[in-house]
Amino acid sequence: MGDGTSETKSSNQMWGGRFAQGPDAIMEEINASIGFDKKLFAQDIRGSIAHATMLAHQGIISAEDKDKIVHGLSTILSEISSGQFEFSRQLEDIHMNVEARLATLIGPAAGRLHTARSRNDQVALDFRLWVKEELQKTEKMLTALIAAFLDRAEEHAETVMPGFTHLQTAQPVTFGHHCMAYVEMFGRDRSRVRHAIEHMDESPIGAAALAGTGFPIDRHITAKALGFREPTRNSIDTVSDRDFALEFLAIASICATHLSRLAEEIVIWSTPQFGFVRLSDAFSTGSSIMPQKKNPDAAELVRAKTGRINGSLIALLTVMKGLPLAYSKDMQEDKEQVFDSAESLELAIAAMTGMVRDMTIRADRMKAAAGSGYSTATDLADWLVREAGLPFRDAHHVTGRAVALAEQKGCELAELSLEELQAIHADITDKVFDVLTVEASVASRTSFGGTAPSEVKKQIAWWRGRN
Ligand code: ARG
Repeated sequence: MGDGTSETKSSNQMWGGRFAQGPDAIMEEINASIGFDKKLFAQDIRGSIAHATMLAHQGIISAEDKDKIVHGLSTILSEISSGQFEFSRQLEDIHMNVEARLATLIGPAAGRLHTARSRNDQVALDFRLWVKEELQKTEKMLTALIAAFLDRAEEHAETVMPGFTHLQTAQPVTFGHHCMAYVEMFGRDRSRVRHAIEHMDESPIGAAALAGTGFPIDRHITAKALGFREPTRNSIDTVSDRDFALEFLAIASICATHLSRLAEEIVIWSTPQFGFVRLSDAFSTGSSIMPQKKNPDAAELVRAKTGRINGSLIALLTVMKGLPLAYSKDMQEDKEQVFDSAESLELAIAAMTGMVRDMTIRADRMKAAAGSGYSTATDLADWLVREAGLPFRDAHHVTGRAVALAEQKGCELAELSLEELQAIHADITDKVFDVLTVEASVASRTSFGGTAPSEVKKQIAWWRGRN
């Protein structure tokens, strides 16, 4: 390091005028973001090209300088894309790495690119572009997952399974209906994604450091060139806002929570005890010691990914809370959380889509389980209301006695004799046996959104028409 009296070689080339010395090694380490924000190189270069083009259009830089800048930036884009670019930690972040290389490539014209701009609006732009693209990818992946469920639902609109509350057998439902519950959940995730894209569809570039600029820029030109609906309206908010990142993380967390519930069901369903599904070899693993094992590792890992995704949301919320307006360096900590969440969410959705498409549904096992555990008790109570005119509360009581008797005898409700049922309530006739089967039970639930195959098919058609 130099003697502190003159500008040394290691002082920063971007702000070296004000600094006599370069940073301490620890300062460099805590300050640098290039290790992770190099992921933003394509967005950074796209943003700079749009900015330089606008500057020339407005007569702020010459057309000649603009051409040099654009040409140089395109060269850098291919250098980075092909792995030929050498990133420097001394140059701190992606913005300064690109600008320094531009200076090497085209000389003094490079110094004009940063006119009417700051890294504060630059990073807001790059990161927003990245998150927007990631959400567009997420939307497509969710559509594929929804399509996988719609296919399984169609195939199994009539397949009965036990419906659960408290993970105790409640009432028979169809597997198609159960699949459609997930279609609703992932459908809501997808509409959250669409709303978030709309929210963040405003261009930050031109807010400059925080106050805007005196140069006659046109923010509508850059907004349009970068595919945004319009420019942001307040320069202070623009450089201090990370709502777009928080929204991404919140959406990812809710979606990951849905995925983990599905993962948990797959783990349970694939146990020998349940045996509702058989996972494909492609999405399970064996044990190195127990030859009989087939483990649902992919489902377990999807369940676990939720931990880091939720953690990222809390991390960034905590970084942002209490920050005064406008930009603070704290905000540099936004990116790793989002990158990690995005990678985890993509993997989790892709693995789930594969599992849902590939798994074998064991309809015989589902049906056997659907009929056990007195799952049609509500149907008996409903029958007593409908056919014998009992108030529901009384019907509930009578049915409870029938269940107790069956339990005592170790049989199912439908296996009680007519005499035994009539001893509990004299108005019961042999017609009651029609409603005690699981098929009759599900077929009768035709209320809007109910489990009857006819209803489920309507819901499938509704979703197919949406996309
Ligand atoms: N690397 C920085 C970040 O990600 C870029 C913005 C730096 N701005 C500044 N005024 N130091 O936040």
